[in-house]
Amino acid sequence: MPDLIAPSARLHSAWLEAHAEWGPGVHEDGFGLLSSDEVDSPAGFAAWVARLADASDQVNPVAADQVRCTYRWIVEGKQVLGGIALRHTGNDAVRWAGHIGYGIRPSARRRGLATWALGRILDEARVLGMDRLLIVCAADNVASSKTTERLGGVLENLRDTADGAARRYWIELGAPSTQESSSQPQHSREPGRALIIAVDRRDVVVAARQHRP
Ligand SMILES: CC(C)(COP(=O)(O)OP(=O)(O)OC[C@H]1O[C@@H](n2cnc3c(N)ncnc32)[C@H](O)[C@@H]1OP(=O)(O)O)[C@@H](O)C(=O)NCCC(=O)NCCS
Repeated sequence: MPDLIAPSARLHSAWLEAHAEWGPGVHEDGFGLLSSDEVDSPAGFAAWVARLADASDQVNPVAADQVRCTYRWIVEGKQVLGGIALRHTGNDAVRWAGHIGYGIRPSARRRGLATWALGRILDEARVLGMDRLLIVCAADNVASSKTTERLGGVLENLRDTADGAARRYWIELGAPSTQESSSQPQHSREPGRALIIAVDRRDVVVAARQHRP
């Protein structure tokens, strides 16, 4: 059974094993890892983990161009299976990239882990007093779209961005649902219900044009 934990320097070798699986140069969504972070040495890894802890600490001041962020790792036994990040407030970066980033190591995908972890982090967002979350994913990222829709994500629109067409979803944070409160991933689920509330036709045209072969 997986668990969602705060990043820990004690998991250095387990994290490095997951890191190697993502492969060199691949962005590991949800981990807050920057190219300037040195994670190979125990001291560098511990410094990175401390930076992640600082980013979420309510007592630390936040620079104008930064946003407070909670980082969690999805762990099971001695393995790190994924990461998820919750950005607390909406600065320009959040309005562009959304409140959530998440990633599951390749060998652990399609087991319901992202759906489970997203449900758990929604509960953390409620505790922080957040009432709605923006999730942005590439228009062709079916896995992320389905995960978001599974947790009640409502498609606002498709937008053209510097990184290509992106889907923008909003999740309203009411009381936790059974799915969100589940202590473990659900492997057999009813299909999610997605509702399109508003589609900017100009954005869709741009997105469609971008996806021509
Ligand atoms: C997106 C990602 C986090 C999904 O993680 P996951 O643990 O495999 O997702 P789940 O097992 O919870 O599956 C969620 C839904 O996506 C579907 N799905 C997962 N991978 C899929 C794929 N490759 N193709 C189509 N559907 C897929 C599942 O069937 C499920 O849909 P359902 O609820 O209708 O059955 C994972 O693919 C990943 O890490 N991708 C790279 C990083 C990334 O894209 N992060 C998101 C950035 S916005």
